[in-house]
Amino acid sequence: MNRGAFIVIEGIDGSGTTTQTALLEKRLTASGRAVVSTREPTGGPVGSMIRQVLTKRLREPSGAPFNASTMALLFAADRVDHGAVLITPALASGAVVISDRYDHSSVGYQGLTGKLPFAEAAFWLRAINTRAVRPDLVVVVDIDPREAENRRRARGGAEELYEVAALQAHLCTYYSNLSKYFPEDTIVHVDGSRGTDDVGAAIDRAVQALFFRQLEQRKAGELEEQLEELLEDNRAPKP
Ligand code: TYD
Repeated sequence: MNRGAFIVIEGIDGSGTTTQTALLEKRLTASGRAVVSTREPTGGPVGSMIRQVLTKRLREPSGAPFNASTMALLFAADRVDHGAVLITPALASGAVVISDRYDHSSVGYQGLTGKLPFAEAAFWLRAINTRAVRPDLVVVVDIDPREAENRRRARGGAEELYEVAALQAHLCTYYSNLSKYFPEDTIVHVDGSRGTDDVGAAIDRAVQALFFRQLEQRKAGELEEQLEELLEDNRAPKP
């Protein structure tokens, strides 16, 4: 069984990552692929606790929100659990896994809300996430932070922990430089200011390019194996 494909969708709050994850799942399922769509924070025990912090129901005794280091370690623990319980088994079964957010969010959100200089924080955040399964493709939905804020307002609901204009503007800059912090990942940027269908079409192009690359790699792997067998046969002593 071939390993499936692991795709991550990232962007600031209100960029449309959740909508695009659901739409991509629908399209890939319709095309006959086995798809598992997921998100972080997860619905698991650590992820559920994180959601209580994000909605401000869980705080430090002083009433302040959990600090960035505590949040970083909670997100990292949730991610290891996510990998063990869902991502790794799904990939092993050959499925395409689509995750709405991953460790790229940790470096951005926890890196920009802590006390350390960003480069130092980013280094530590990457270090505590070394157990995270690497994605095959990261799609960043780029959007102007004011446009994203308008969308969040239109959506309604209480403001979550990180939904603060100044932070979202910094996150926007961070996401546009994402490859600097994740040089080993394949990162594709799509213009999130366009309509839902156009954004979906741009994501599709990136995903199809990934499938094509995987197919080429598999073919190259098979050829190499055949060549090895041929060489082995030739090396065998002649009767
Ligand atoms: P979001 O994905 O927008 O979900 P919902 O639609 O339920 O609000 O919210 C998750 C929030 O968590 C978002 O503000 C980004 C933040 N986050 C981090 O700060 N660090 C992380 O590692 C992850 C995965 C998310």
